[in-house]
Amino acid sequence: MELLLKDLLWKPQGSPELDIVSFDCERESVNEFFREEAQGYQDELFGKTYYFCLPQNPSSVVAGFTVANASIFTKHLSRTRREKIGSEVHHQKGLINYPSVLLAQLGVDRRYKGNHLGSQIIDFVSTWFVSQSNKSGCRYLIVDAYDEPELIQYYQRNKLQLFFSDKSQEMKYRNWNEDKDGQLETRLMYRDLILLRRMSIRQ
Ligand SMILES: CC(C)(COP(=O)(O)OP(=O)(O)OC[C@H]1O[C@@H](n2cnc3c(N)ncnc32)[C@H](O)[C@@H]1OP(=O)(O)O)[C@@H](O)C(=O)NCCC(=O)NCCS
Repeated sequence: MELLLKDLLWKPQGSPELDIVSFDCERESVNEFFREEAQGYQDELFGKTYYFCLPQNPSSVVAGFTVANASIFTKHLSRTRREKIGSEVHHQKGLINYPSVLLAQLGVDRRYKGNHLGSQIIDFVSTWFVSQSNKSGCRYLIVDAYDEPELIQYYQRNKLQLFFSDKSQEMKYRNWNEDKDGQLETRLMYRDLILLRRMSIRQ
């Protein structure tokens, strides 16, 4: 039977008895972030990390993710791109930036892959930020996905779209200089959360 997020234990970064050392999502940068950086990142108020653990073994981490505030800077987008990303924005005055949440470091332990937990987390975070209890405005969910076709398609299946199909446009938006910054290895993707809000109002 498929594992459901709602049946797992919710544990914020810093909870006692989290066995992060045994966590392995098969992407070393994510494993390492959870092991070595998540606490410092959180202490600096840069982002918060959460884990889901097994009820029968509460120290065992099944999946984790980090969330941080983010923005889409509309002034740095071409008109067509601005119109595409903001196609559902009906506010009369254009905003300089669209408030967003960045979902980063999404990882599911290799023992629990195949349960669509990553998709469940994407939906969970999206729902969280459109809920009435959210304390600030948040219009878009953003991920900065590794530029690998299968991963990009994975996020597309999970209702996220690429900001830019053209990498050079993305580099311009991000002020990315290959000589200084190296190869751009990730791509920005977004999901307009207003669609989710409208769906939940209709239900
Ligand atoms: C990406 C990730 C979170 C997805 O977790 P998940 O949704 O629980 O994944 P599942 O194993 O249930 O797979 C869901 C589907 O997507 C596919 N899929 C997931 N990740 C994939 C990847 N990296 N490449 C190819 N296919 C992938 C699976 O084949 C599966 O297909 P199906 O729906 O036809 O069965 C997980 O694979 C992971 O932890 N990857 C390593 C960390 C990482 O790269 N995070 C992304 C940072 S941007």
